[in-house]
Amino acid sequence: MANVKITWLGHAAFLLEAEKKVLIDPFISGNPVAPCGPEELNPDIIAVTHGHGDHLGDTIEIGARTGSRIFSIHEVANYIKSKGVFAEGMNKGGTVNVEGTTLTMTDALHSSSIDASGFSFDGGCPAGFVIGIGGRSIYHAGDTAVFGDMQLIGEMYKPEIALLPIGDRFTMGINEALKAVELIRPKIVVPMHYNTFDVIRQDPVAFKQVVEAKTGAKVFIMKPGDSIEV
Ligand code: NI
Ligand code: MN
Repeated sequence: MANVKITWLGHAAFLLEAEKKVLIDPFISGNPVAPCGPEELNPDIIAVTHGHGDHLGDTIEIGARTGSRIFSIHEVANYIKSKGVFAEGMNKGGTVNVEGTTLTMTDALHSSSIDASGFSFDGGCPAGFVIGIGGRSIYHAGDTAVFGDMQLIGEMYKPEIALLPIGDRFTMGINEALKAVELIRPKIVVPMHYNTFDVIRQDPVAFKQVVEAKTGAKVFIMKPGDSIEV
């Protein structure tokens, strides 16, 4: 099995590298913990979980420069296209296959909008992705509460690695993310969407301790800019 290099760019932004480079939720230039600039990223594929600014991020700029294939829910793709950059819409339960790298859009329990000054564009529904890359199945939950159908995601796509928000307030906190691990049953968990801002301050060590005590999963605490190979 080929290896996948997973780099955390802070917040919900990850770069997965194997036969393709997949960039998820590239919130870089506004991200106080981003380890690089958006101009340093050259993905083949960009996956956007929902329209909020801390996820759509620099998608349009990176897509315009690199010609990456951009995938998101229909409404967010339409917004990106309205800015003159090609994007491809999809929806929940659907899979796209880019020369063997697959993106399956899953549910997420959250909201979605594209916020401009004084009003919001329709951002459709929030989503997550299961990414098939390098022989691995990797679940990026997006922003979400815990929900029972995470068990279905686990059964159907058998993600070995789950990237889960733990920052609380806008997403799951530690207790909810623990339940998510129990439902999904991955081998490896990487916490995300915490400590970017004060309002999502969280202790990843406490999360690691409770998950490793109560489940068979191993928790990898990353720092922005860190990579792991799986
Ligand atoms: Ni959000
Ligand atoms: Mn968010």
